[in-house]
Amino acid sequence: MTEYKIALVGFGGVNRGLAQLIAERNAEWKASLGFSIKIVGVTDLFLGSIVAKDGLDAKQLVAMPVEKGVFAQLPGGTAEAFNETVIRHSGADMIAEATFTNPVDGEPATTFCRWALESGIHVVTTNKGPVALHGAELKDLARRHGVAFEYEGSVMSGTPVIRLARQALPGVGIQGFEGILNGTSNYVLTRMKDGLSFNDAVAQAQQLGYAEADPTADVEGFDVRLKVVILANELLNARLNVSDVACSGISSISPEDIAQASANDASWKLIGSASREVDGSVRASVEARLLPNSHPLAGISGATNAVSFNTALLGNVTVSGPGAGRIETAFALLSDIIAIHTTHGKQ
Ligand code: HSE
Repeated sequence: MTEYKIALVGFGGVNRGLAQLIAERNAEWKASLGFSIKIVGVTDLFLGSIVAKDGLDAKQLVAMPVEKGVFAQLPGGTAEAFNETVIRHSGADMIAEATFTNPVDGEPATTFCRWALESGIHVVTTNKGPVALHGAELKDLARRHGVAFEYEGSVMSGTPVIRLARQALPGVGIQGFEGILNGTSNYVLTRMKDGLSFNDAVAQAQQLGYAEADPTADVEGFDVRLKVVILANELLNARLNVSDVACSGISSISPEDIAQASANDASWKLIGSASREVDGSVRASVEARLLPNSHPLAGISGATNAVSFNTALLGNVTVSGPGAGRIETAFALLSDIIAIHTTHGKQ
């Protein structure tokens, strides 16, 4: 029976969610997935770090309070985040990287991924920064070191998009996609339809935990822009940078615009899209669009995300589901681990 040793890099909601899944489901995974997971290290800039080659108690980790340096209370733990030690020297087969997204340079997460990959350690991540800004380099690094770099959760959390396209749609001829890729902005537009003001709707999205601490990236399209870069590069084999994607958000949409759309059987949606042009180039954008209510994305309401692939052989293929949430995003990490087990599985 395979037992994977994992180091958790960042211990906010997502990796705490993964630890919870491990605590609750490891025994079942042995039977259903053919492997189990042992946590051999955790590091977090706020909480500190710990390495335990014989394994940590996942349930105990999940219960740790969110207090500065709290890992010093565990035997062998420390209040300092010894990131490189945990990543390179905990004996891990893989790291789950779930630190904050830095949209400017992807750091420090990109460095964490590099350390692991060049040490021959697989990386699973939910972090948009390293993938959108340094994806090609990290994929190449992984290939050269014979390990995996997997990032399903970076686009729609646990709702499959990347692997769906990779595994179920090769040969179908993906010509482009349109997506609702930010839960907060879609929630805000939905609540404005119910009569809420923009500011009240944003405040509700924050209370419900959908919005980033600074919701600017959610409502101005910057979060979607990172996801469009990831998807365009993955699905259309593009080589887009963030600056290649024209970007505007939803903050200029007024209650009157919303009411007028409803009267015309249409809905405003923040759409991230990319398509292959006749000259072979890929054009991508993020913008608010007025969709007729017959459009496959018009009925996607609340914090739900969706992406509609435009394909040569099937026409539009649309997948929708949660795009955020701690357990939902932790599941994306599990799906990456399952993919690694399938392709690189230990005998
Ligand atoms: N703030 C993001 C959203 C979370 O609202 O969709 C996932 O990237």
